[in-house]
Amino acid sequence: MSDDPKPIEALTKAEAKTELERLAGEIARNDELYHGKDAPKISDAAYDALKQRNLAIEARFPELVREDSPSKNVGAAPLPTFAPVTHSRPMLSLDNVFSDEEVQGFVGSVYRFLGQIPDESIAFTAEPKIDGLSISIRYENGTLVNAATRGDGTTGENVTANVRTISEIPNELPKDAPEVVEIRGEIYMAKPDFLALNARMEEEGKQTYVNPRNTAAGSLRQLDPTVTAKRKLKFFAYAWGEISEMPADTQSGMIETFARWGFPTNPLTRRLSRVEDLLAHYHEIGLERGELDYDIDGVVYKVDRLDLQARLGFRSRSPRWATAHKFPAEQAFTEIENIDIQVGRTGALTPVARLKPVTVGGVVVTNATLHNADYIKGIGNSGEPIREEDHDFRIGDTVVVQRAGDVIPQVLDVVLEKRPKDAKPYAFPDKCPVCGSHAVREKNEKTGKLDSVTRCTGGFVCAAQAKEHLKHFVSRNAYDIEGLGSKQIDFFFETENDTMRIRTAPDIFTLEKRQAGSMTKLENIDGFGKVSVRKLFDAIDARRTIALNRFIYALGIRHVGETTAKLLARSYGTYDELEKAMKAANGCTGEAWDDLNNIDGIGEVVARAIVEFFNEPRNIGVIDDLLEEVTPEAAEIPAISSSSPVAGKTIVFTGSLERMSRDEAKAMAERLGAKTAGSVSKKTDLVVAGPGAGSKLTKAEELGIEVITEDAWFDLVGEGA
Ligand code: IVH
Repeated sequence: MSDDPKPIEALTKAEAKTELERLAGEIARNDELYHGKDAPKISDAAYDALKQRNLAIEARFPELVREDSPSKNVGAAPLPTFAPVTHSRPMLSLDNVFSDEEVQGFVGSVYRFLGQIPDESIAFTAEPKIDGLSISIRYENGTLVNAATRGDGTTGENVTANVRTISEIPNELPKDAPEVVEIRGEIYMAKPDFLALNARMEEEGKQTYVNPRNTAAGSLRQLDPTVTAKRKLKFFAYAWGEISEMPADTQSGMIETFARWGFPTNPLTRRLSRVEDLLAHYHEIGLERGELDYDIDGVVYKVDRLDLQARLGFRSRSPRWATAHKFPAEQAFTEIENIDIQVGRTGALTPVARLKPVTVGGVVVTNATLHNADYIKGIGNSGEPIREEDHDFRIGDTVVVQRAGDVIPQVLDVVLEKRPKDAKPYAFPDKCPVCGSHAVREKNEKTGKLDSVTRCTGGFVCAAQAKEHLKHFVSRNAYDIEGLGSKQIDFFFETENDTMRIRTAPDIFTLEKRQAGSMTKLENIDGFGKVSVRKLFDAIDARRTIALNRFIYALGIRHVGETTAKLLARSYGTYDELEKAMKAANGCTGEAWDDLNNIDGIGEVVARAIVEFFNEPRNIGVIDDLLEEVTPEAAEIPAISSSSPVAGKTIVFTGSLERMSRDEAKAMAERLGAKTAGSVSKKTDLVVAGPGAGSKLTKAEELGIEVITEDAWFDLVGEGA
């Protein structure tokens, strides 16, 4: 990079052209050094900065994008793992204290170490200790160039592309920010977002996450940044690494500066001097903790003045000027009275521990999920041990229960000394406890490993699955029939009376007819009544026509959530077309199969599940009966504007988009009469590539397909602002 690159806003067109030429050359040289000779001459950060500058200039002058532009060749193949990053300054951890006395001890030691402090008491910041994962984000000349996880404190992982997708983290800093600054803080997932994500995972029959912290970590460590982008991660800034010029001389001043630069900072941060005030703040936050949107596990006290921090310095792994006052773990001991198996809509067998009621952090806990067979044995999702050897869970065991991150009760560990002599290892059923069909663990085709979920193979035969299917069918985002919720389905499913029984979705719509000729009237059943029965029938009738996407979602196809249902509706338009195409795709080959896979947002696993569903005659039988009663409306085809420059073209969006979400991009393209696809093929007309684009971009180049930047896209379609 030149010593002092001219700000991009100040470049003339001619200068921009020369600069792009220079950047293309320099980046290509470095690519060669990096890949070919294994001897990079510049740091990753400097290299990223070159690429960023190239992109930014191209964004301003899209007409100048070169044939050999480095933006057309971003990132080559995706990395198998994250590249290591050595922190310019180590990321240390904090000492923990648990009691008020220890806090007094900490404050006392600060005074003792510093000796006499002329005419003032020492101020501290008190900041909530966010339970997420720490990150260091490097900015050079005001631009985000690098982001790394803490790792072992010395070396972390390069997660730059993923961090760029977090909207709370600015990509650019204001002009007055120092030339080099590393902002450090905590990435976390808010509790409501965690719960919503888990609900979605469950709905789609996927493995749910244990707590927001692990989910945040897992979401950040995705090799595909578009996955991270969907996860709603958040951030609080509270520290810094390398910095070329200090903007403040206190911790509180630094936090204020970060806020000014556009970073979220925690509103519960205080500057306090007296120990009593620190403790009062800690206890106050402790009380509010449950109501916060995010998990915290303590309060961090830091000496406010940075000159005093410098004098106090560090012990081997932690600073002398700070300590973490942890909240007591919300744990309790109780007994596993029984282990029940619940069977879900997709047949997943979930073991649930029935616990002797116990209060954990103010909430009575009686049940806790044990997740799956491996968890009971003490084996984690990737096959690694998660407890000490022999610490499996058995009925009768005394266990440690924790409300993980205030959200879901968890069984953490067993107290072996209290294990009853006759306790036997839990034998996970190999048959469905409801229908008796075989229960199996499928093999993941990609990894060859056994799935952690054990599934009932009974499908339609299994009453549990059938009932859960019905509950899904009437749920809020599916048929949403007022007066027909989970409780009522239990009743209608169990009843032996033919004129009332609902076992499959079509039965819902024949209920009134069957009741008409019946001696046993629903209105005489406890919990119903004349008015409510009339209302129920009306509510059922009101749903005899329904939007196609809701209809598809209601079918409860494995892996098909609302988003996929919408994609299918938009792509096939009518139910008949969908069914016809899915039958044609049987065997997962041929044109219909390719078309399905080409829908942007539908991956192979999901595609397989859809094709399998429509090629199971029993499913088609039920759907045929259902279609006797209801009419799914044809999907609204986005209005096609034939005059747009992209009308009739097939477009692929790839890489991370910065001015619009993927869904927005697709909707926009479709509004303009274009089709969007998820993969690049000969049929593709145009590829819009954002940073981080990989194999799709390479493919496009191989096939000689036109590739443009996101900004060039806006210029092309004339909707840029
Ligand atoms: S300061 C040198 N402040 O706690 C001190 N850490 O146990 C650097 N954490 O790795 C850390 N909230 O992940 C600091 N307000 C806060 C924090 C905080 C959460 C985490 C951070 C750190 C760990 C140390």
